Amino acid sequence: MLNRHELLEKHGWLLTTAILVVVAIGGIVEIAPLFYLESTIEKVEGVRPYSPLEQKGRNIYIREGCYLCHSQQVRPLRDEVERYGHYSLAAESMYDHPFQWGSKRTGPDLARVGGKYSDDWHRQHMIDPRSLVPESVMPPYKFLAEKHLDYEHIEADLKALRAVGVPYTDEMIENAKADIHTQLDPFADDYDAFMARYPKAQVRDFDGDPRNVTEMDALIAYMQILGTMVDFETYKAEENYR
Ligand code: HEC
Repeated sequence: MLNRHELLEKHGWLLTTAILVVVAIGGIVEIAPLFYLESTIEKVEGVRPYSPLEQKGRNIYIREGCYLCHSQQVRPLRDEVERYGHYSLAAESMYDHPFQWGSKRTGPDLARVGGKYSDDWHRQHMIDPRSLVPESVMPPYKFLAEKHLDYEHIEADLKALRAVGVPYTDEMIENAKADIHTQLDPFADDYDAFMARYPKAQVRDFDGDPRNVTEMDALIAYMQILGTMVDFETYKAEENYR
């Protein structure tokens, strides 16, 4: 056996070929399962596609480049978990296209910002960050409160997301425009059906101006849902590995 090994060591090409064969076996064992596994992300209860209003808010978040200063991923390190809350799960961003994990934190991580502040706080903070946090370097986004939300193409938006794997149903797409108004009005007729489509969605006027649907409404709706879909009182990581 050892003598034959000498053969390999003395012939460079033979050794190279043998190495390639061994590495290829390892590669195939790791890669082949990915061809038939539908998803490598564990399912977690509570994670759902964004409602049309939240999705519009997310589009504004991307348009305005908020990700240049804010990450959306709590790492499983003690200082982060103590500051922000439970570390981020892969499932929590499985419907984010593109995801907003990021690594640049000029401002704080936003993955768990939902429910941390009131709508009023967010509105005031967007209009003039330094009125609340005097040392802030965040730019003001006052115009969002004045700009009407353009959701003319929301159905196409949701369809595009469905094409890349977000499970929007036909019902969700049909109701997309109406759902924008429903989420802004707790007394809307379609309230129950909306809540069935988007459990845990927060329904109210977000920007303090019930007469107008503004970009501020959408952005705050998005901020307030971030990190709140999974119930971490009952979530047990170990259960997913059994
Ligand atoms: C130039 C960098 C920068 C940009 C761009 C930026 N922010 Fe900020 N943001 C900050 C900084 C710094 C803070 C911390 C000070 C403060 O609260 O104002 C912050 C704080 C925040 C907070 C409060 C977070 C917390 O937990 O206290 C929210 C919410 C927020 N930003 C949202 C946004 C949104 C939405 C956008 C895009 C419309 C945005 N930011 C764009 C720098 C930025």
